[in-house]
Amino acid sequence: MLIDAKNASHDEMYKLLIGSVLPRPIAWVGSRDANGVDNLAPFSFFNVASTNPPVVSISISNKPSGEPKDSLKNILETKYFSVSIVSHDMREIMHKCGTAFEAEVDEFTELDIKKAECRHIDAPKVAAAKVSFECKFRHLHEFGAQSASHLILADILYIEVDDEIIDYPKIDMQKLDAVGRGSGPNYVTTRDSFSLIRK
Ligand SMILES: Cc1cc2nc3c(=O)[nH]c(=O)nc-3n(C[C@H](O)[C@H](O)[C@H](O)COP(=O)(O)O)c2cc1C
Repeated sequence: MLIDAKNASHDEMYKLLIGSVLPRPIAWVGSRDANGVDNLAPFSFFNVASTNPPVVSISISNKPSGEPKDSLKNILETKYFSVSIVSHDMREIMHKCGTAFEAEVDEFTELDIKKAECRHIDAPKVAAAKVSFECKFRHLHEFGAQSASHLILADILYIEVDDEIIDYPKIDMQKLDAVGRGSGPNYVTTRDSFSLIRK
């Protein structure tokens, strides 16, 4: 089957892309609005955009109502946010956190997720995360006629890693035990890995 991108509906293209580009890493984004209300939400259109300088990319679509999601509003408003990496033992609560809550709702409190303050930026993060990034907004690229998708690029200012999982600078993949997103409701673990060594 050859699909001409211009003939696929938005829903079809979404399904084609999430079914093809997988597994996707998950950024569990902690942000704070200008009034001090905290927010936490997962995003799997997430990756490393550059290592020198260290930059992450996160793509945030609008709410079904066409309004921007709270994370996007907060990032553009206050410029700083955290990314927590999701370990397997956090998968269910992270998934619940992907539900649409009102902007006034602090998902940490609502879902009983222990919050920690970032060390150097004014943003919350997941206390139990084994790896988290402290990020500063760098660039926004908007897609679509109604700016339906927003690609955020942000500099990583600090990386906090649980001492138990790092032999500096190598992070133990098994101990991090990260999960990724597949298509539909599916997730993957990083438990089943293999090595390829070039001779
Ligand atoms: C694992 C997972 C990955 C997600 N990835 C994305 C994504 O890449 N982009 C997006 O716009 N929404 C994504 N969502 C949906 C958002 O998490 C959801 O819309 C959330 O309510 C946004 O919260 P906010 O309005 O507090 O920012 C994802 C949800 C889950 C559970």
